[in-house]
Amino acid sequence: MTTTPTRSAPHPHLSFDPAPDPWRGAHVLSMRRYRREDLEDLFHHTDALRSGPAASTRLAGRVLVSAFYQSSTRTRLAHEAAMLRMGGTCTGFADAGVTRAGDFFAETPEDIARMLGGYGDLVVVRHPCTGTADRFASAAGVPVVNAGDGWGEHPTQAMTDLYTMRGFRGGLDGATIALTGDLRMRTMRSVLLGLRHYRCQLLLVPGPGMAPDPALIEEVAGGRARVERRPSVADAVPAADFVYMEPVVQPDYTVGRSAAPAHKPATPPEYRVDRALLEDWARPHLRVLHSLPRQDELSTDLDDTPFNGYWTQARNGVPVRMALLDLMLGA
Ligand code: CP
Repeated sequence: MTTTPTRSAPHPHLSFDPAPDPWRGAHVLSMRRYRREDLEDLFHHTDALRSGPAASTRLAGRVLVSAFYQSSTRTRLAHEAAMLRMGGTCTGFADAGVTRAGDFFAETPEDIARMLGGYGDLVVVRHPCTGTADRFASAAGVPVVNAGDGWGEHPTQAMTDLYTMRGFRGGLDGATIALTGDLRMRTMRSVLLGLRHYRCQLLLVPGPGMAPDPALIEEVAGGRARVERRPSVADAVPAADFVYMEPVVQPDYTVGRSAAPAHKPATPPEYRVDRALLEDWARPHLRVLHSLPRQDELSTDLDDTPFNGYWTQARNGVPVRMALLDLMLGA
């Protein structure tokens, strides 16, 4: 890895991507690329694949290459499961230490992308440095999916999250969504960019010093969504249809892998959600979403309650990626 990651690193955003179709043969790097109708097409296609005849041969002969320079439980495996369920195959790495990027040569993202683009039909990349998915896209010669780049974006997580909220509620227009935790995170940035297309009310409850970039807020508020700040989750819950959470206590997102410290700090109570809070204050249809993994901000005592939307959200990661891969590569 040759670049020095910074939280404010610019995100080049596809200046080199000539594909006129937002999906077919195109890179998936930023939620900025997609209009509301593009996202709705993806969601309809996801529904069609789920309810239609088996899709098990639609991507037969296609190869997905994973290039994960950073830890993942869900994103890599959901992409790979989606490819396998569509009849394709997968190869790749989940630890850059086994590649030439992680040894004496410090092989560049561009050189590795050129290789992987010759081995498969699509590359899914996660990297601790903002902008590295764009660097892959500039060199791979095949479509590249950004599976999380530092503090940049995580568009396929956002697609999964919007699809999940839409499914619970029957649509996103009119929804009130409380968003809490570190609102600077890549997942939150992508979710906010997706929600800007919908007439929803966004109640932001950022952790201390964790408010989104003002330019991003301006961009979201310049769309159809209305944006307000709230001091605590408890303050936002009574009006909310959804609580969308990210951790407040988290590792450094600019490194590949962080070991757990001996003593993790506790999440302040203003940013925690548990059963008692929701049973006292939430409307019965409220659902909690969390991109996971969780820390103490999301209590396990919610797992067996109707408020739990996060297992559905995690499971939806496969059908949404099936639809995405099909739109990108299918016949
Ligand atoms: N939601 C998410 O990105 O999870 P992983 O880090 O496990 O892929």
